[in-house]
Amino acid sequence: MYDAIKKQDKELFAALEGEETREREGLELIPSENYVSKAVREAQGSILTNKYAEGYPGRRYYGGQEFTDQAEAFAIERVKKLFGASFANVQPHSGANANIGMYFALLQPGDTVLGMDLSHGGHLTHGHPVTYITKFFNFVRYKMKDVETGEIDYDDMLAVAKAHKPKIILAGFSAYSRELDYAKFVAIAREVGAYAVIDAAHIAGLIAGKAAKNPFDYGFDIMTSTTHKTLRGPRGGIILTRESEELAKKIDKAIFPGLQGGPLMHVIAAKAVAFSEALHPSFQTYAAQILTNAKAMEAVFKANNVRMLGGGTSNHLILADVFGSLAIPGKVAEKVLDTVGITLNKNVIADDTRSPMDPSGIRFGTPAITTRGFTEKESTRVAELMLQALQGKDDEVTLKAVHQEIKDLCAKFPIPDTFV
Ligand SMILES: Cc1ncc(COP(=O)(O)O)c(C=O)c1O
Repeated sequence: MYDAIKKQDKELFAALEGEETREREGLELIPSENYVSKAVREAQGSILTNKYAEGYPGRRYYGGQEFTDQAEAFAIERVKKLFGASFANVQPHSGANANIGMYFALLQPGDTVLGMDLSHGGHLTHGHPVTYITKFFNFVRYKMKDVETGEIDYDDMLAVAKAHKPKIILAGFSAYSRELDYAKFVAIAREVGAYAVIDAAHIAGLIAGKAAKNPFDYGFDIMTSTTHKTLRGPRGGIILTRESEELAKKIDKAIFPGLQGGPLMHVIAAKAVAFSEALHPSFQTYAAQILTNAKAMEAVFKANNVRMLGGGTSNHLILADVFGSLAIPGKVAEKVLDTVGITLNKNVIADDTRSPMDPSGIRFGTPAITTRGFTEKESTRVAELMLQALQGKDDEVTLKAVHQEIKDLCAKFPIPDTFV
């Protein structure tokens, strides 16, 4: 691996080797990360990186597109099949770009979006004041009614929608552990004449693997997503349209030429590979196991009286209030777990009394360990080891023993190269 880089660029080679070891010998619990197949990496490292392909298949600005057109058409057809969409744009460079393109396709400056409160699980691109989109559009919020069950306050959502007349009702999240009531979202959107949009970045793999409900089955108009989280593809974005050709055309224009230049054809080829992997029956087994493993971890945290936002999980992630339950700030927990080979992130919890840089919670999930082949047994053990490390954070001997067991687990479950 990396033969040419090794010869040519020793510094970078050392960094890549370091990351190889880090990923091999440590456990990845960040719920937005995963391991891709060798085929995805080959496509992403392929010759298609050389080609400019501004435009869309059959309608490009430059010549020499017979093979780029094929690669993009494969990605489009496969992802449409995977999610039951009528139209797909596979060019967004990232999830953020997919959302920005979607906003510019559906809104005029000054229009309003009703999205999930950021401290209750929504993403930066759903209208955080630090993002430029808030200079163009107005964002209003819905929240959970009860942070202990995770139930969304749909009555308040309707009241806010009636008061602010949003053009988009936006479902989707980065840090929320329950399934949404899609029928209610769509009913509210229809009542106020808004588009129903789901940002499925976190749960796209669960939907594709039929372990979670598909928002299109409930009438959502648009789905945006990343391709690199539970979907287990290369880093990138997509925008899918359930039915309306008019909306799909607006989205295509918004992405190119509205927002981006040349598409990353090597990444689009890698998306095509990942979508074919997700269409394989084995992906459904994978998606189901992600949930089973998250439940196994939930059981350990529950048994140890650690408060989880939403009372636990129905998806791939858990948000634990480690400050409230163990008197350990999220930042400290992240650091302690890092020292024993477990990577996760500190996270704000709903109505956090602490600051975003030093919050009360940690967020972790099972997509990557499930790719590694972990079942309930190993997931349970990982949760136990996490609590052992946190409770014994000042005891060198405990931390050493936990780290050794994590290394042993990683050696027993190497990161696979193929999934189908
Ligand atoms: C819900 C959601 N939307 C969008 C994004 C942005 O994706 P990217 O990091 O690819 O821009 C994320 C990433 O964390 C996300 O969780």
